[in-house]
Amino acid sequence: MCGIVGMAGGQNVTPILMEGLRRLEYRGYDSAGLAVINGGRLQRLRRMGKVQALQEALNGNPLSGASGVAHTRWATHGKPSEINAHPHTSGGIAVVHNGIIENHEALREQLEADGYRFASETDTEVIVHRINYHLARAGDLRLAVSRTIGELEGGYASMVVLSDAQPDALIAARIGTPVVVGLGGDGNLVASDVAALLPVTSRLQFLEEGDVAVVGRDSVRIFDAGGREVQRPVRVSEQTADSVDLGRHRHYMEKEIHEQPAALTRALANRIEDGAIADSAFGPEARSILAQTAGVHIVACGTSYHAGLVARYQLEEVARLPCAVDLASEYRYRSPVVPENTLFVAISQSGETVDTLAALRAAKELGYLATLAICNVAESSLTREADLTFLTRAGIEIGVASTKAFTTQLAALLMLTIVLARQRGIGADTERQIVNHLAELPGLVEQSLLLDGAIAELAHEFADKHHALFLGRGALNPVAMEGALKLKEISYIHAEAYAAGELKHGPLALVDDDMPVVAVAPNNELLAKLRSNLQEVRARGGRLFVFADPAVEFGDDDGVRILRMPAHVQPIQEPLLYTVPLQLLAYHVAVLRGTDLDQPRNLAKTVTVE
Ligand code: AGP
Repeated sequence: MCGIVGMAGGQNVTPILMEGLRRLEYRGYDSAGLAVINGGRLQRLRRMGKVQALQEALNGNPLSGASGVAHTRWATHGKPSEINAHPHTSGGIAVVHNGIIENHEALREQLEADGYRFASETDTEVIVHRINYHLARAGDLRLAVSRTIGELEGGYASMVVLSDAQPDALIAARIGTPVVVGLGGDGNLVASDVAALLPVTSRLQFLEEGDVAVVGRDSVRIFDAGGREVQRPVRVSEQTADSVDLGRHRHYMEKEIHEQPAALTRALANRIEDGAIADSAFGPEARSILAQTAGVHIVACGTSYHAGLVARYQLEEVARLPCAVDLASEYRYRSPVVPENTLFVAISQSGETVDTLAALRAAKELGYLATLAICNVAESSLTREADLTFLTRAGIEIGVASTKAFTTQLAALLMLTIVLARQRGIGADTERQIVNHLAELPGLVEQSLLLDGAIAELAHEFADKHHALFLGRGALNPVAMEGALKLKEISYIHAEAYAAGELKHGPLALVDDDMPVVAVAPNNELLAKLRSNLQEVRARGGRLFVFADPAVEFGDDDGVRILRMPAHVQPIQEPLLYTVPLQLLAYHVAVLRGTDLDQPRNLAKTVTVE
């Protein structure tokens, strides 16, 4: 899940590499490092911790060079430390790597027997020593890299190599995880992610699996897995180098929560025509595919999986279509039975989550009608590989905790539900009514955000707790799951979610006056049932925090805090609207606990390892 950026340029590349690293930091932030060729010599600087620590080290010890590579790490093999930080070196060669080498122990033994000394605990270091070994014999860096790649096992090992033996070019290889070349005016770049290239160029070449590229200042040559020189298309990115300024906000998560009305407005823009959803919103071939769809299978991870769980309720109820939802990490190792005319839907903010991508690739072999990617990042691997694409247009999301990506996914899935329901004859009036409810979402979210102050105050009740329970029913159950995930990932409070009806089947045993129980209680047909479940909590002395519809009466007592939503909302709007206060709750609790909430410990924004 590490971030890689490299450049062969005309002038000093260090500032460009550092800006690239700042844009890649969401991939991992355990350590950062860079290496440049200066006066024909390889020079390297690494620091434990964030990119800022590397910047401070550079301020005191400037490194410059016309070609260089840089890396931000999410530790897999070897703890976060300076010695384990990339680039790893062997003689005058430096390597930055993203992925896992499964046979690193065998290679290490062999290299040690050949006299190589290891300085780190990483799997990456075997790569650089093997390249050194082959370079000494082949005399050509590209050949040495290709020979090394041939020895590596474990599908995810993309890398960029810099050597004083060939100081004006980088060698980049794609094995499993994306590598993109950026064609600049004064030099060329290479990175694990388009975001790192955008400040310099939007002209891109995506390497294909097994490709090795020689990225020089004035030319880029690409060779396929068989060693034949190939041309890869040059695309102009649709992404902009979005501003990553915090503005008036303290954290990106806060900024992104408050951007939700604008993000939802973008997600809906040009997709509604005369009270109906345009099929073209899902791509030019969507009409005939969606007309044949007889069932939907959704696959995703984390927050995106929760969006899929919400959609299942809506697809079943509104479109009357069977819908299955799977965790991508489980799906890829199952043997799913695929009913005829099933649409496979992969949901991902980043479009690079390795399990979701692997699930998509597996699905392509299983006889689905077609595959659809619901994704926030144009030109991501997911959007390039799926048959149909729907971009959620949430805008760049930097906080590790996904917020605006989730609510725009819910809006996207609602649009999909409506289009599929139309094919199944819901009728223009019903469609118009649902579309109107959809169009109201940005305004309603704006109103929900007014709860910010009240929730900041409520957060004090959670700040010293070790556990919390979240309850919901129906489509609000995955919303409770999302609330629990938000709280645990950024505040480190252990939080679990349960369908409220499940309480007495086990989790009720945990309830006491030290266990806050959060419930989402819209005024729908499940409210009476939810009330009984909440009574069960009160009867055991549990402290209840209920986000409720304005019209719902709860017997207030000392152990119950009710937070009324600003407006009554339609059932189809409930999951999205009741998500917002739970995001705010997690945010304010984390602020009180003083965690690094945009970059919580042990996590990364994009999960590119299994
Ligand atoms: C959400 O807050 C998470 N940090 C995480 O669960 C995330 O949703 C998951 O890793 C999936 O990412 P994706 O949407 O980019 O595929």
